[in-house]
Amino acid sequence: MSLANSRRALAIVLAAGEGTRMKSDRPKVLHEVAGRSMLAHVLASVAGAKASTVAVVIGPGRDDVGAEVSRLCAGAEVFVQEQRLGTAHAVLAARDAIARGHDDILVLFADTPLVTTATMLALRAALEGGAAVAVLGFEAVNPFGYGRLIRDESGRLIAITEEKDASDAERAITLCNAGLMAIDGRRALDLLQGIGADNAKGEYYLTDIVALACEKGLETRVVVGAESEVLGVNDRAQLAEAERIAQDRLRRAAMAGGVTLIAPETVFLNVDTKLGRDVTIEPHVVIGPGVEIADGAHIHAFSRIEGAQIGAGAHVGPFARLRPGTNLGPGSKVGNFVEIKSTTLGAGAKVSHLTYLGDAEIGDDANIGAGTITCNYDGFFKYQTRIGAGAFIGSNTALVAPVTIGAGAYVGSGSVVTKDVSADALAIARGQQVEKLGWAQAFRATQKAKKNRKA
Ligand code: UD1
Ligand code: CA
Repeated sequence: MSLANSRRALAIVLAAGEGTRMKSDRPKVLHEVAGRSMLAHVLASVAGAKASTVAVVIGPGRDDVGAEVSRLCAGAEVFVQEQRLGTAHAVLAARDAIARGHDDILVLFADTPLVTTATMLALRAALEGGAAVAVLGFEAVNPFGYGRLIRDESGRLIAITEEKDASDAERAITLCNAGLMAIDGRRALDLLQGIGADNAKGEYYLTDIVALACEKGLETRVVVGAESEVLGVNDRAQLAEAERIAQDRLRRAAMAGGVTLIAPETVFLNVDTKLGRDVTIEPHVVIGPGVEIADGAHIHAFSRIEGAQIGAGAHVGPFARLRPGTNLGPGSKVGNFVEIKSTTLGAGAKVSHLTYLGDAEIGDDANIGAGTITCNYDGFFKYQTRIGAGAFIGSNTALVAPVTIGAGAYVGSGSVVTKDVSADALAIARGQQVEKLGWAQAFRATQKAKKNRKA
C-alpha cells in the first residue's frame, strides 16, 4: 500500500482498560504473546505504519505500563485517562496530541495484538481516498458482544451499534467492528467532542463517530480484515488463542524462508527468532527470546533454546538445553542431555552427551566427553573455564574453574582438574588403580567358610 509521504499520522493506542477478566497482578497489555508484550506487538506494527507521533493512553497509577511504553518507543507520548468512561473518552485523553494537527489519526487497542501494519496502512489509505472515518470490520463467526456495522441500501456505513443497544435485526448482522479506526485529523476533535453517553452502558462510545460523520455529510468506509487478525484479548483463553495465531504466523514465515519444520504445530518460536536457510527443526522444540540459527543447522527433538547463536551446520539435541550466552561455532555438535550457558563452542567442537558447560570458552574441534562438568560457581562468584583447540576431555571430568586446558591436551577420564594443563600434555587427576591378584577368589572362599560354620 503506498501512501503519499507528505501525510502526517498520529497513532493513539488505547491501553487504559482494567483487564479484570485476566485475574492477574500484571496489567493486561503487558501479558506476552510469542515472547513479547501485547503492547509491544501493537507498537511494532504501528512503527511500520509510519505514524509521525505515537500516543498511548494508560489508566491512572499504571507506571509499569508507562515504563514499558518508554522502553519500547522512546518518542511516544503517554496520556493518562483518569476515569474509564469509554473508548471515545479514552481517545480524548490524548486531546493535546490531536490538537497539534495531523492528516490521519489511527486509533488502536493495545489488547488487540495481531493487527498487521498492512491493515493499518489500508485504514490510512481509505482516508487518503477521501473518507473522514474508516472502520476496520470483519465477518464474525460468532458476532456476540461486538459492535455491528450498519449499512444503508447502497452499502454505505451509516452507524455502529453496540451489542447492548442493538435491535434483534441489528444483532443478526455478522459484519462486526474490530474496534480500530482511522479518522481525518482535521475533523477528529470536532467529531469526538460531539459524542455523548446516551446508551445502555452510559459510556462515551468511539463507535458513535460514524453516525456523527454521516450526519455531517462526511464519507465513511469499512476496511475488511480477517477475524484472526482482530482477536481482542480479554481473558487467558483468548490470550492462548492469540498465541496460537501468532505461532502459526511465525511458523509459516519460517517455512516460507526455507526452514523445515517436521511437525510445525509442536515447534514454538519467538517474535525475534532468526532462522537461516535449510535449518531443520524436529518436533517439540521450544525457542525463547534472542535465538539466531544459521544456515543448515539441525535442531533435534525436545530441545529448549534461548539467548543462543547457533552456527551453520551445527547439530543440537535431542534433549539439549541452551541458555543465554551460548554461541555454537559452525559444524559443532551438542548432543543429548547437555546444558550450556555463557559458553562459546568453537567450530567443529563436540559435546555429545550428559554435560554441563557454564562460563566456558571451548576451542575449535575440541571433544568434551560424556559427563563433563564445569564447576563454575562457588556460591558467590562465577569463574571461567578455557579449553584450547583440539583438546580432548575424558568422560566424567570435573573442571574446577578458573582453569585452563591447553590446546591439544588430554584429560584422563574421571579427573577432577583443579590446576591448568599445558598444551599437548596428558593430565590425570584421580586415584591410582591398584590390582591384587587372586584377591577376589580368596575373599569368596573365606566368606563361604564363615557362612557354612554359622549354618
Ligand atoms: C469495543 C467496540 C466494539 C467492538 C469491540 C471489538 C466501542 C464502544 N466498542 O467494544 O464496537 O466490536 O471493541 O473488540 O468502542 N479503553 C480505554 N478506556 C476506556 C474504555 C476502553 O482505554 O474508558 C480501551 C480498552 O483498554 C481496550 C479498548 O479501549 O483496549 C476497547 O475497550 P473495551 O471495553 O474492551 O471495548 P468493547 O466493549 O470490547
Ligand atoms: Ca474488548
